[in-house]
Amino acid sequence: MRKTELIVALDRPSCREAISILAQLPLQIQWFKIGLELFTAEGPAALALLKEKQKNVFLDLKLHDIPNTVARAVRSAASHGASLLTAHTLGGESMLKAAVNAAGEMGTKAPKIIGVTILTSHSQADINSIGIREKISDQVLRLAELALKSGAAGLVASVNEAQRLRQKFGHDFILVTPGIRPAGAEIGDQKRVATPGTAIKAGADFLVVGRPILEAKDPSAAAAAILEEIRIQNSESKINF
Ligand code: C5P
Repeated sequence: MRKTELIVALDRPSCREAISILAQLPLQIQWFKIGLELFTAEGPAALALLKEKQKNVFLDLKLHDIPNTVARAVRSAASHGASLLTAHTLGGESMLKAAVNAAGEMGTKAPKIIGVTILTSHSQADINSIGIREKISDQVLRLAELALKSGAAGLVASVNEAQRLRQKFGHDFILVTPGIRPAGAEIGDQKRVATPGTAIKAGADFLVVGRPILEAKDPSAAAAAILEEIRIQNSESKINF
């Protein structure tokens, strides 16, 4: 069984501020997320900064556009060295296939396409208000099936849906879970949250953590505590579904 890893979300407005956070974090952290804030501000320079330090990049651009535009964006992103790249599953099958095919053209440099299901900041009422009548968990399963059928290598979903995703689709896909909050941490705008331990037991491969580390008084200690929880949980056997 794969070991679960931490991805620290570098949700910061500049490379300068990202570097300042990086400098405070334990060296053993191998994965970092570059999202809309940092990528919009700095573009490929943000990826270069991480590649220089031999870190892996989860490029969370949540692509959602017509298939041709998404394919072209995937080619651009791939050329900058992202290992994982997100696309919204709500973009539909043709868009997801276009993303997967464009990534595939990059050969060994191809980023893995990860389908975002329903955002962890969305509650049932939020998705009802945009016209989706299904229960969140059913909608996540439907979108997950669409993404995996389209060739996506993995999914982003909340921990609430992780067990059902593993039960239905097995372990042969990468499961990334945001909305991670160590016990007692502020929830912020996230609505469907879980502790690192619960996420790992539910089958997550990667835990994306932003504010509980970035906004901690001591980011290094906050990251170390999460790494320790991951280490303990990894060393116990994961539940097999
Ligand atoms: O600060 P926090 O730990 O809530 O950050 C979570 C990160 O994961 C953010 O960068 C956010 O964009 C991302 N994310 C999410 N929910 C998703 C996909 C990504 O919160 N479904």
